[in-house]
Amino acid sequence: MANVTVIGAQWGDEGKGKVVDWLASRADLVVRFQGGHNAGHTLVVGNQTYKLSLLPSGLVRGKMGIIGNGVVVDPEALLAEIDRVRAQGLTVSPETLRIAENAILILPLHGAIDRAREAARGERKIGTTGRGIGPAYEDKVARRAIRVCDLAEPETLSMKLDELLLHHNTLLAGLGAETFEKQALLDQLLAYAPRILPFAEPVWERLDEARRAGKRILFEGAQAVMLDVDHGTYPFVTSSNTVAANAATGAGFAPSALGFVLGIAKAYCTRVGSGPFPSELHDEIGRRLGERGREFGTVTGRPRRCGWFDAALVRQAVKVGGIQGIVMTKIDILDGLDELKICVGYDINGTRFSHLPAAMQAQAAAKPIYETLPGWSGSTMGARSYAELPAEAIKYVRRIEELIEAPVTLLSTGPEREDTIMMRDPFEG
Ligand code: IMP
Repeated sequence: MANVTVIGAQWGDEGKGKVVDWLASRADLVVRFQGGHNAGHTLVVGNQTYKLSLLPSGLVRGKMGIIGNGVVVDPEALLAEIDRVRAQGLTVSPETLRIAENAILILPLHGAIDRAREAARGERKIGTTGRGIGPAYEDKVARRAIRVCDLAEPETLSMKLDELLLHHNTLLAGLGAETFEKQALLDQLLAYAPRILPFAEPVWERLDEARRAGKRILFEGAQAVMLDVDHGTYPFVTSSNTVAANAATGAGFAPSALGFVLGIAKAYCTRVGSGPFPSELHDEIGRRLGERGREFGTVTGRPRRCGWFDAALVRQAVKVGGIQGIVMTKIDILDGLDELKICVGYDINGTRFSHLPAAMQAQAAAKPIYETLPGWSGSTMGARSYAELPAEAIKYVRRIEELIEAPVTLLSTGPEREDTIMMRDPFEG
């Protein structure tokens, strides 16, 4: 069995795009299983740059892409993205893209609620992408969400809209935001129906067939373990489970067949949005990492907060996420630093912790405990074997492997696809 599940091991933006693209080129199907158009990555293929949010990356490589039931789909965003990549020459048709008929739809009112609530939170805002992700998942568990399959049933749409609007218009009015009108929403959904429904199907059946036929399936996670709604830095998290286990639920697939679980981690650490970040740097080194690493959000363009590699945090992500190997990205950004620090635990009000506790005040009070390693004067940029790396860079990677209790399976040393040192082929399990 040769499947691979890829998840982020920090707070997102670990450089999944390049790795997923490389893996996608070797897979038969690529499956998204959670999140929505809050995710974003840039893929450079030949002279084209593709910015994907909702579409599985495999499409760029001509592979079948599947949007699983665990994804929240904004039809407007999806259709705009399809139009955009089609204009760049990609084929997106029911032969190359399938969407779970039971996936949840994001409506304009979800974005409106998301933004109105963030505004009401003021200082305590989560820093969401404002795209309605959280409110859409809330509607799912509240059993009132509109699903892709409902687009084929105007009566169901009408009935569900009544319930949705009763709930959301009350909230919106309470927050002082504009309310929504039923007929306009219904007309909009009915207009989307003929463009979305041709992609809809029970994707679990296709995935089961693919599994039995021995096809290679890549499960493409979005966001990252520290943004997981259960295991992340709650409440500063996204609203879905980002751990590998959710690939089974979010696609309707056998948990035993998810294959090798690959976690992506930057050689340092970044975060967008609010929330605890114990190893954050507010100094010249933090600014330098941000500049050299071009740390700006793909979706929102926000500058990312930067800090030292947090091994305590990634170790936690390895354990709760089921990560079997790490892809370490952007090590070249650390080139030329005199010394490097790795966070190995936290001091919280005088007590030492080897993990980040769950309580909010404890997380906010966590001070990093660092181990210091020498930097390197040589370059790791573009290295394609361990032999090409400075000795201190190898030492840094080896020490991280010990601390996080997982091997570094792949090391990414630059933006090009070939700038990669592979220790083990994840598809070989
Ligand atoms: P939401 O997913 O829009 O509800 O945002 C919740 C939190 O997750 C915020 O801190 C966002 O910045 C963060 N977030 C959501 N998607 C991504 C992503 O793809 N990369 C990094 N952070 C993300």
